[in-house]
Amino acid sequence: MTDHDPTTGTMRTVRFHEYGDPGDVLHLETVPVPDPGPGRIRVVVHACGLAPADWALCRGLFPGDLPRGIGCDVCGTVDAVGEDVTDVKTGDAVFGTADWAHCSSAGASDRAVMNRWFRVPDGLDLVRAAALPMTVDTAFFHLNALGFDPDKTILIHGAGTTIGFAAAQIALLRGMRVIATAGDTYAPRLRALGAKVTAYGDGMIERVTEINGGPADLVLDTAPVGGSLPDLIQIAGGDPKRVLTITDFAAAAELGVRDTFHEDRSNPVEALPEFGQLAADGLFTVPIAGTFPLDQWKTALEISQSHHARGKLLLLPGQPGTDG
Ligand SMILES: NC(=O)c1ccc[n+]([C@@H]2O[C@H](COP(=O)([O-])OP(=O)(O)OC[C@H]3O[C@@H](n4cnc5c(N)ncnc54)[C@H](OP(=O)(O)O)[C@@H]3O)[C@@H](O)[C@H]2O)c1
Repeated sequence: MTDHDPTTGTMRTVRFHEYGDPGDVLHLETVPVPDPGPGRIRVVVHACGLAPADWALCRGLFPGDLPRGIGCDVCGTVDAVGEDVTDVKTGDAVFGTADWAHCSSAGASDRAVMNRWFRVPDGLDLVRAAALPMTVDTAFFHLNALGFDPDKTILIHGAGTTIGFAAAQIALLRGMRVIATAGDTYAPRLRALGAKVTAYGDGMIERVTEINGGPADLVLDTAPVGGSLPDLIQIAGGDPKRVLTITDFAAAAELGVRDTFHEDRSNPVEALPEFGQLAADGLFTVPIAGTFPLDQWKTALEISQSHHARGKLLLLPGQPGTDG
């Protein structure tokens, strides 16, 4: 089976019934196709982006009713619209967010209910569109919290992550000076975009300070591996409030560094349409490391958990898998 089965009203989905290690609690199941409630739409999933955040949800981040699915980022073709939805119709290509918190399945499925969507701009490939939502949302939200000041230099620590790579581009597009720490995979592309790039790890304080000719004004930490905050504070001239981390929350609390969960979310700026259009125009990109049929979700999980995905990992439910 490579798609939903209209004769039985069922579909495949990857989901979990209890919290725990994703490799233990996630299973590919056959379930009824979900109906979109009011203010929701349902899509035939073309591509679903996976992210470390999915594994965190499996482990109990934002607990709620179970079972739940994985795959927050979705691009697909609308096949049903719920009550009160007037901006899209059946057959439209959209990208956005699966209703993972209120539905017993999410984007890693043949069909998905979405609670936030935008039309895919002309010229944007559907797989590339699915790579955008969480990456753009996270990068933009945290940069906006730090402030888009073209007179400032920002260090993006971990710019080889999809979020860091996006953040470096967004900061550059907003006119900021960008220094990036990254591995070899994306260092040349970051340099070509206009960032100054150095390796993360030993000697980072000296290298960044030398490149910048002094402390950096701002630091965004997107590295998936913690432990760098003391160095990043030094890079920011010793001021922990000039550093914002999206990953190293325990250390942030100890060191007085800003973190995701203590930023003001009351008035978020919606950046996805702008960066979707820039992606369609070839002016912004989230790199893709690999695509997999739905039944090969475990391979994507293993690559993601290695901390060296080197780009976005996406499931393509319409692609034939090993089961057919
Ligand atoms: N707080 C939030 O709102 C939020 C939301 C979403 C995700 N996150 C978190 O943000 C992090 C990044 O997410 P992502 O999906 O963009 O990750 P990702 O692309 O899967 O990150 C993998 C990349 O991390 C880099 N890396 C590995 N070890 C590193 C180290 N010690 N220092 C710096 N970079 C290192 C590697 O790039 P190189 O080739 O450069 O080594 C690798 O390709 C994850 O930890 C995720 O859980 C937070």
